[in-house]
Amino acid sequence: MCKPIPSPCCSRRRFLAFCGTALAWLGLGRYLPATAEAGQNSWQFLRQIITHDPATSRTIMWQSHSLPQDTHLEYRLRADAAPQRVDAGYEYLALDGTVTYTFHAAITGLQPGQSCQYRICWEQQAGTWHTLTTPARDAACHAVLINDSQCADYTVLTRNLRRIMARHADADFLADLGDLTDNGESDWHWRSFFASVGDALVQRPFVPVMGNHECYGLNWQMCLPSRYLAGFALPANGSQRFPGYYYDFNWGPVHFIVLNTQMLELSDLRPGLLTEQLAWLKRVRAQSQLPWQVVLMHKDIIAYGEYQQGTGLTSGISDVGHAFMTAFDALGIDLVLTGHMHTYRNRGHIYQGKHADHGPVYVLYGPSGDQHYEVPANPDFDVVSCPQPTKDNYVTLSATPAQLQLQAWYVDGGHLDTITLQK
Ligand SMILES: [Fe+2]
Repeated sequence: MCKPIPSPCCSRRRFLAFCGTALAWLGLGRYLPATAEAGQNSWQFLRQIITHDPATSRTIMWQSHSLPQDTHLEYRLRADAAPQRVDAGYEYLALDGTVTYTFHAAITGLQPGQSCQYRICWEQQAGTWHTLTTPARDAACHAVLINDSQCADYTVLTRNLRRIMARHADADFLADLGDLTDNGESDWHWRSFFASVGDALVQRPFVPVMGNHECYGLNWQMCLPSRYLAGFALPANGSQRFPGYYYDFNWGPVHFIVLNTQMLELSDLRPGLLTEQLAWLKRVRAQSQLPWQVVLMHKDIIAYGEYQQGTGLTSGISDVGHAFMTAFDALGIDLVLTGHMHTYRNRGHIYQGKHADHGPVYVLYGPSGDQHYEVPANPDFDVVSCPQPTKDNYVTLSATPAQLQLQAWYVDGGHLDTITLQK
């Protein structure tokens, strides 16, 4: 939810951030959460990032506070094959008293249903080989989706993700539907987030979605999401003004459309996001022949007590709902997943009554971090909800060409809801 003004928990957040920074300055970084290969190398936070066609390609990213010479990636299709070199590009970011170099390298030309090994190399040294696997064209899709992973204490996210990924170790990819961290410019928050993710993204790609907290600066005012954009080299959307803000990708029978719901908050800093996105949405939907069309976006389509700048109301359909729902009806979107409200609500099919026989199923879920709110019911829309205050929860999505099933789970292991759609 929106917190542009420092909240009471900010003092605790600042204390935890101070502790993290102090440990680093005192040379006691080993007491921060462990990360893949951190400590033995000069870089950390290795991660796979989703590409438009993950059946044939993958983006690999990692980051460092320095710029090692000759940093690049190697990959090989068999353990006894000669490695192939891929030069790495990087983004430089000086912010919050730290310098971060975020590297990215693209592996392309893979075959669907293929495994390959990759490693990071720098200054005549080489890291550990890791394995990535591309999905077959006719493979089913099995994904884990969290959201609102923002924390004051990231040990909560660390514990939650360990439980979730242990339960779904065969997940194809991990998505986070926004508010990844509590502050978009904070070095401590982002390092804590990646440390909490740990090795989960070394084996499978990450699907990030931009939330409002990605656009909060150190002073808790709106800012452009510089750390998010530097941290994730995302599929191209053809935009000169909003590269990385929204994108789409395919996995098996599903076309995933990742939208950006920050158009009102970013309107003073960079206007035009909604108009551009709606045109793009219609274009990519028309180009897709896949059976399932699934939208991932941060803010929900119902207000649930939160003031809406556009309507001036705290109830009914939200500004984001008014912006997108008619287009979703017209474009035959099957499922829309959202977050931001930090609770679970299954609203079933909602149809705006203008362009189609029925609208998508709308599901709000989360959080996976430690920020919890009391969220009012909306009996006009809610079909399934969970008790308040909401316990940490997440969803899994499984899809074949004939069936898509969404299951909602509590992080502590309880089952919350099942939604099954048929073609
Ligand atoms: Fe949010």
